[in-house]
Amino acid sequence: MAIKTCLMIGGSGMAGGWINRLVNEFSDQVKIIGLADIQQKVLDQQAETLGLGKDQLFTDFNQACATVKADFCGVATPPPFHSPATIAAMENGMPVICEKPIADTLEAAKAMVRTSRETNLPCAIIQNYRYAANKQELVRIREEGRLGRLQHVFSRYACDYRRPGSWGKAWRHDMDFSLLFEGSVHHFDMLRFLSGGDCETLTGFGWNPEWSSFKHFSSGYYLMKMNNGVHACYEGNSSAAGITNCWNSEYYRLEFEEGTVEISGGNQIKIYRVGQETETYEAPSIERLAHGYLFDEFIGWLDGGKPSATQISDNIKSFIMVIAAMETTDDGSPKQMAEYLKDL
Ligand SMILES: NC(=O)c1ccc[n+]([C@@H]2O[C@H](COP(=O)([O-])OP(=O)(O)OC[C@H]3O[C@@H](n4cnc5c(N)ncnc54)[C@H](O)[C@@H]3O)[C@@H](O)[C@H]2O)c1
Repeated sequence: MAIKTCLMIGGSGMAGGWINRLVNEFSDQVKIIGLADIQQKVLDQQAETLGLGKDQLFTDFNQACATVKADFCGVATPPPFHSPATIAAMENGMPVICEKPIADTLEAAKAMVRTSRETNLPCAIIQNYRYAANKQELVRIREEGRLGRLQHVFSRYACDYRRPGSWGKAWRHDMDFSLLFEGSVHHFDMLRFLSGGDCETLTGFGWNPEWSSFKHFSSGYYLMKMNNGVHACYEGNSSAAGITNCWNSEYYRLEFEEGTVEISGGNQIKIYRVGQETETYEAPSIERLAHGYLFDEFIGWLDGGKPSATQISDNIKSFIMVIAAMETTDDGSPKQMAEYLKDL
């Protein structure tokens, strides 16, 4: 297949990681031909890496989208810019692959879904944690019925971000509901992936311990009922001081008809059956991981292959769980997911 050209919006932070990966692992499939970032020094640095001239660098993503004619656009800015950048790209004819969370508000996310529909252009969202060997193995255990039917899933995320600025940029410590928008969106998406169902009802609490480095809630407990009858429970804690289950080491426990499966860090799968020795083994490795898998899948979609599993029209079902969690935290009442997508 011909090399795809890419307009990249965002040049450092996570976007810098995208650029490294695209340059180092996808050079036979992708060439970045334009870059937008609000920081001139980021543009200058990346221009050198990418061999871009001044006319390929932009401080305004709208201008970049109107000027650069690329086969697709990558968006990896902070969340408030995902929707305007993605919409500008699609309105200029470019399919988009965008970082999570879809957007900063429900309306902004819906506008992206509508633009993707109206322009009939692919739009995929990053959900890198699905593409890890241990998560793929859990899904196989469920789908193949190795332990019978699934009853419920317990999940735990806990990072020690008690020091200001310890979770990347300051904005992550200053914004409202950063646990939900920056963290839990991954875990809610994982609960859909592992349970095989979409969330039907969600309820719970959020809070901010007095010693938190966050201006708003760092922690929360949420309960979910999925539409296939599986229940789920989530503990999220960005003020963890003892047992951590931070990125790539989140704890998931799946309670099946004939046993319990547990994962956390590494690729070890532990299966418990009452009265038997615990079975422990390494999950079979997978060819492409995380962002690498998602880039490859998206490029395949552009070439006429199957759509990304995390295409926006599906992944909005993970995003509305964040919105529901935010609202149930605020008003204390359980939320019905169907209400959020009625007008879409
Ligand atoms: N999938 C993951 O595991 C993962 C991990 C970390 C961050 N993220 C996501 O990546 C995104 C970026 O997070 P980050 O920590 O890299 O943020 P960041 O603050 O480092 O910003 C990334 C880049 O975007 C640029 N930028 C900011 N506003 C812009 C605008 N209006 N136009 C063009 N460029 C702009 C910044 O200058 C920076 O170079 C967020 O959506 C975040 O949730 C995902």
